[in-house]
Amino acid sequence: MQSKHCVYPGSFDPVTCGHINIIERASALFAEVRVAVLDNPEKTKAFTVQERMDMLQTACAHLSNVRVDSFSGLLVDYMKQSGAGIVVRGLRSAGDFEVEFQMAQMNRQLYTAIDSIFLMTEPQYAHISSSMVRQVAAFGGDISAFVPAGVQAQVIKRFRNE
Ligand code: PNS
Repeated sequence: MQSKHCVYPGSFDPVTCGHINIIERASALFAEVRVAVLDNPEKTKAFTVQERMDMLQTACAHLSNVRVDSFSGLLVDYMKQSGAGIVVRGLRSAGDFEVEFQMAQMNRQLYTAIDSIFLMTEPQYAHISSSMVRQVAAFGGDISAFVPAGVQAQVIKRFRNE
């Protein structure tokens, strides 16, 4: 299968500058990038799926070939349905590699027509994760270096319980 578009799946709770860097680079490599937010009702998130999608939409407004979507259930089923052949994921550390290696193998065993490709983080984003952002925001810390400018206010507001 020739892949003109890729899927970048994740929780994005919330989107970080590291995610946006991966999306920008994928957008230069593929005709279309579909950013797919996992909708998992079993896991409590800080932001609803719609809020996470809206924040991604805002942060990706400068990228004309990026679409934001959501999925539930298995990623491979979403891939089959969307006709995409490539999963893009970012790698920040050896720890990420362990997890991603297993996930990629599992996905490929479930659906051999897909491949996963990995983009190494830019060093300035290597320590950033959504969970760290939530923690810093919860204690009133400065998240401006970690979260795209257009969504900072929304993240801060959520953690002020407004
Ligand atoms: O941002 P995250 O939380 O690291 O993203 C993980 C995600 C959403 C890509 C992964 O959990 C996923 O694909 N979940 C869907 C369920 C699935 O397909 N599981 C089998 C592969 S391990």
